[in-house]
Amino acid sequence: MTGSGNRTRAAWDKRYSTNEYAYGVYPNAFLSASIAKLDMRANGQRVLCLAEGEGRNAVYLATLGYDVTAMDQSRVGLEKAEQLATKRGVDLAIECGDLGNYQPESNGYHLVTMIWAHASASVRKNSYRIVDQALKAGGHLILEGYVPSQATRHTGGPSQPDYMFTLKELRANFPSYEFIIEQELTRDVQEGRFHTGLGDVVQVLARKS
Ligand SMILES: C[S@@+](CC[C@H](N)C(=O)[O-])C[C@H]1O[C@@H](n2cnc3c(N)ncnc32)[C@H](O)[C@@H]1O
Repeated sequence: MTGSGNRTRAAWDKRYSTNEYAYGVYPNAFLSASIAKLDMRANGQRVLCLAEGEGRNAVYLATLGYDVTAMDQSRVGLEKAEQLATKRGVDLAIECGDLGNYQPESNGYHLVTMIWAHASASVRKNSYRIVDQALKAGGHLILEGYVPSQATRHTGGPSQPDYMFTLKELRANFPSYEFIIEQELTRDVQEGRFHTGLGDVVQVLARKS
C-alpha cells in the first residue's frame, strides 16, 4: 500500500470513521477563489478531484453544475463524500484508487484539483503525470499544498518535509503550463479539526497549453 503524508490508507479510513468531517464540509478557500477567477461555464465541464477524501471540494463543484469525479484511496472517505452529495442534492462519480498507479481517462477533464494531496516524492511525481494525462488542452490545475517549512508548525499536514510540495517542483513538472497563480505564502488555514492555523502553503492555478 502506498502511504500518504506519513499516514497509511488504514489511518485515513480511521480518521474518516466518525460522523464529523475531518476537514469540514465547506470547500477549500483557494479552490473557491480560483473557480471564481476562472469564471468557467460549469455546465458540461468535467472535473477530477484527486485525493479528495470526504468530498467537500467535489460536492461544492457539483453544486455549481460541474460534472465531478472524486478520487481517493479511502473508501470510508468516499462513502462520506457520497453522503454529503446526497445531502446537497447533487451527483458525484466516485473512484477508489491510489495516486501511485491510478489511470485517469486521458484528455477527459477540463479541471483537475489537488487539495492537500500529500504523498511521498515518487507518488507525488506520479500524481503530476496523472494530472497531465487527465487534462484536456486548455484545461486547468488547481493545487494547494503545504511546503516543507510547515513540518514544524503542527497546524496541519504531514510531519515529513519530503511529503510536501514546492513551487520549484511544480514549475519543473509542468514546464509547458501557463501558471496563472503561483505563490508560496503563509496563511491562516481553518478547515475542520486538522487544519487549524497559520500554515506555509503553495498555491497554483495553471493552464495546460
Ligand atoms: C488532507 S486529506 C485532503 C482531502 C481533501 N482533498 C480535502 O481537501 O478535504 C488527504 C487525502 O489524500 C488521500 N491520499 C493520500 N495519499 C493517497 C494516495 N496515494 N492515493 C490516493 N489518495 C491518497 C488520503 O486518503 C486523504 O483523503
